[in-house]
Amino acid sequence: MNFNVEVYGGSHERCVGVKIKGLPLGLKINMDAIATMLTRRGASQSPWSTPRMEKDEVNFTEGVTDGVVTGDEVVAEILNLNTKPHDYSNINTVPRPSHADYVSYVKYGKIFSGGGKWSARLTAPLCVAGAIAKEALKEQGIEVGAYVSSIGSVQGKSYKRDNITLTEIEACHKESLPTLKNAEAMVEEVISAKKELDSVGGTIECIAYGLPVGLGDNLMDGMESAIAYMLYGIPGVKGVEFGAGFDISQMRGSIANDAFVVEEGKVSTLTNNAGGINGGITNGMPLTLRVAMRPTPSIAKEQDSVDLLTLQPTKLSVKGRHDSCIVPRAVAVVECAVAISIYQKLLESQSKD
Ligand SMILES: Cc1cc2nc3c(=O)[nH]c(=O)nc-3n(C[C@H](O)[C@H](O)[C@H](O)COP(=O)(O)O)c2cc1C
Repeated sequence: MNFNVEVYGGSHERCVGVKIKGLPLGLKINMDAIATMLTRRGASQSPWSTPRMEKDEVNFTEGVTDGVVTGDEVVAEILNLNTKPHDYSNINTVPRPSHADYVSYVKYGKIFSGGGKWSARLTAPLCVAGAIAKEALKEQGIEVGAYVSSIGSVQGKSYKRDNITLTEIEACHKESLPTLKNAEAMVEEVISAKKELDSVGGTIECIAYGLPVGLGDNLMDGMESAIAYMLYGIPGVKGVEFGAGFDISQMRGSIANDAFVVEEGKVSTLTNNAGGINGGITNGMPLTLRVAMRPTPSIAKEQDSVDLLTLQPTKLSVKGRHDSCIVPRAVAVVECAVAISIYQKLLESQSKD
């Protein structure tokens, strides 16, 4: 059975959850690793975070016995314990610009409380599956790590300019803002946006180390396609690039090409502009990618909207709880999405062996 992850639930429903198909029977579930991942994704008392704190206790309702995978389908649930639907009463018919309110109203006939199934609350169960995939990859020598590479105009470290090690990525996960450089200036950027009742976006980079040559395949079966599919499922992701990404369009072939060399008897490349993928297949170099996250759509600043019942113009200032910058919390989510896609391709390749 193919490894597959399906997230369900909504912001103000009883729970959010995940159904994971095709995990190897006997795989041990590391509850501590899941809890750590959920804490990294969770709300905090930081300036960028929503005040909506949730306990995020994970309950495996199917497919796991005594901490071991025993079924073809694993189901994990997280209860929603801290909902405040009244916060959203003023947006019942007035959509928040750039959130999913307008499209859900047209498609489903209503604006869902707390963003419904478009809420980032659904990234919590995604992180349950991601933490499982990440631990399983680690067992096979593959490590995945993400970090904030910019917030607004403040740049942190980037694999495009700097040599970045797994050790420093792991160290930054213990900080409240998971970045490798300029954390203070980034925090200032968030505070300044918040003071203006506004929000700010940024970029997240992710690197996978220890990949074998050969995961993925051509065209739509490629590694980039699989990862981009998962990453675009994260609310607020508006761009994904691999390796040099859009910058490669301005390079000459002689610069863009990653020249082959032999190091310690192994073929590798001098540069890594391709981000560790050629023709959709991993080439043994670190897989590098960068994600653009939008500024949070919900902002307290007054904006133009329309009342969808009367079609009259109206002003909207969002009162509900929201993140003034989604980037720091999304780091764990990006890492999980990437781990899931790589694990999918790894299991696929091992089932063909
Ligand atoms: C971790 C995380 C937290 C988020 N928090 C909020 C929030 O508090 N308020 C909000 O309006 N959007 C938030 N978003 C983004 C919205 O969910 C997203 O912009 C919306 O669903 C529309 O999807 P789109 O931006 O991909 O088009 C968050 C996203 C992530 C990944």
